[in-house]
Amino acid sequence: MGAGSGTREHEMADPHDIVEVDVDVDALVDCADPYALFAAWRAAGPLLRTPSGFVVATSWQAAMDALRDPSATSGLIGQRYRDALPPGAARDELSHRINFLDPPDHPRVRALVSKAFTPRRVAELRPYVESTASSLLDELVARGRFDLLHDFCHQVPSLVISELLGVPVAERDRLTALSDAVTPLLGLSVTDDERTAAVAAAEEMHATLGELLADRQAHPGADLLSALAAAEEDGERLSRAELLSLAATLYSAGHRTTRDLTVNGMAVLLTGGGTFGPDVSSTVQEMLRFETPTLYVARVTTDGPVLVLLGAANRDPAAYGDADVFRPERWQVEPTPPTPLSFAFGAHYCLGASLARMEAEVMVGALAAVPLALDTTALEWRLRGPFRSLAALPVRVDAAATT
Ligand code: HEM
Repeated sequence: MGAGSGTREHEMADPHDIVEVDVDVDALVDCADPYALFAAWRAAGPLLRTPSGFVVATSWQAAMDALRDPSATSGLIGQRYRDALPPGAARDELSHRINFLDPPDHPRVRALVSKAFTPRRVAELRPYVESTASSLLDELVARGRFDLLHDFCHQVPSLVISELLGVPVAERDRLTALSDAVTPLLGLSVTDDERTAAVAAAEEMHATLGELLADRQAHPGADLLSALAAAEEDGERLSRAELLSLAATLYSAGHRTTRDLTVNGMAVLLTGGGTFGPDVSSTVQEMLRFETPTLYVARVTTDGPVLVLLGAANRDPAAYGDADVFRPERWQVEPTPPTPLSFAFGAHYCLGASLARMEAEVMVGALAAVPLALDTTALEWRLRGPFRSLAALPVRVDAAATT
């Protein structure tokens, strides 16, 4: 499914239909089951206005309308970071972050990134992804018990994004921890401690990425960072601040959401909430819909700040029959349902969608061949910024199923 396939022509939601409700979007922050909240909010209406002034898009159609709204800007969100953060790396990173840019900067930066981050570069990574996933899994199966999140679903995308950007493997754990510390800044609310830790982590992250960038500018290699530094169109180049922000964004976007897609999807299967579908691409498509890794994105429209609940859109019964049932087969029956909004839509459609899909398909395909059982009685879900993830997913190879 491409970004544009499967969309239906519906009436745009009438802005006058915004329902004033007494809901607090912060309820999402420590919520074990956001889908119950989403269902309750959707029942109140497709577009809600909360007492704190947020408009919340709860249905697939309202979310799609907000993502396609020509008046929608993301730049005001970048501006919010410029105003709220002290001068330094965190402020530089977030105020130059590609998904918080508007025209003319956004199409300029996006075109330069697309020149370097090509479909061919993604296709060329496939053998590396396959061999990494299969050798890791062989080792883990021999071990018998392992944490599917840390030992597998984290390792593959983390190694891939490091390989892609040319980040030394020895730096991976440190950079992952630093990017995790910056992530709360992307959420609905951030505590003072989280902000202080994020500001310090961004400084350290930028110092490392700055050294790496200087090295690649002096000695260009075959990696994406070298290609981004060299990308040029109509005499335009990416500025140093844009390059550093991109490197940090790609490093974090490149591993976190792909890890969460795969591990959250596997948690659904291992807890008995569904089974692998007839083929790996429909299984991954259903994982994207059913356990949306990035639960929301924000825009500012003529209605004010809008929280676009991608996770709620993907469970909207008006768009998907049996929306709360994990059913990969739905993607094989024509006409297929509308595209899940997990990678957003429109101008800011995820630049890594085909890489993420390829990695998830390789990982899920490899996992489908191993008889795994859950090795815990309790799963701890959490939300860091807009990202829904598990703390761990302990599993064991199910000897009974192999005999
Ligand atoms: C399952 C995995 C992934 C999910 C669910 C996901 C989700 C998203 C979403 C929802 C957006 C829109 C953000 C917004 O509108 O504010 C986005 C944008 C973006 N993603 Fe992903 N992403 C994934 C993987 C990746 C990977 C692997 C990369 C790169 C290696 C990547 C790079 C980006 C970039 C650069 C943007 C900004 C595009 C723009 O603003 O023009 N993502 N992603």
